[in-house]
Amino acid sequence: MFDVVVLASGRGSNFAALLEAQRRGELPIRIRALLSDRPQAQALERARAAGIDAAALAPADYPDRARFDRALFARVATCAPDLVVLAGYLRVIDTAVVDPWQGRMVNIHPSLLPKYPGLRTHARALEAGDRVHGASVHFVTAQLDGGPVIAQARMPIHAGDTPEKLAARLLPLEHRLLVASVDLIARRRITLGKSGVELDGTPLAAPMQLHGDGTVRTVG
Ligand code: GRF
Repeated sequence: MFDVVVLASGRGSNFAALLEAQRRGELPIRIRALLSDRPQAQALERARAAGIDAAALAPADYPDRARFDRALFARVATCAPDLVVLAGYLRVIDTAVVDPWQGRMVNIHPSLLPKYPGLRTHARALEAGDRVHGASVHFVTAQLDGGPVIAQARMPIHAGDTPEKLAARLLPLEHRLLVASVDLIARRRITLGKSGVELDGTPLAAPMQLHGDGTVRTVG
């Protein structure tokens, strides 16, 4: 079995997408726990309703970020997961804590990385006059939103779009992108190699792309 721990700070719709796909028998994973840095996160309620172990640690209870992160990941480690999924987890994680998880931790980010790491991605895409926007799933490294990109979902930007409209239109694509990416990792087809992301042992020339049927495929 391929064990997964999900970290989420808020609503938890990406977590719910993983859970639903797993329950439909479409995702060969076992979700061992949902952990959060916010006790009020809706993601915690979703997990508890589904009978999944859910807990929040509050950063304010720790003297600094490194010690909070060490405590959180000590908790993660008790589940011995094959993969940690950051699904709307809104805190930067201490480098020393990230390092041992390289190749075993992914994040979903609402932009076409390397464009717009960090916050306000939808507003920044609009401000730049972009015609295309999207989301990326990437392996987590010490660099914020800077790790090797596994797959992306793209969508057009229309006249009259606002950050809110973009976020709403992108969210269902994020869900499919995350499920399809985690599926490939759980099937041991996607790995992090020395020169970047590999599919079936061959380095990707470019991030894979989400298609209308919900699969992600190589480009070209
Ligand atoms: C998503 O847009 C994700 O890409 C971003 O935060 C949002 C989380 O949404 N990092 P949810 O909590 O999964 O509903």
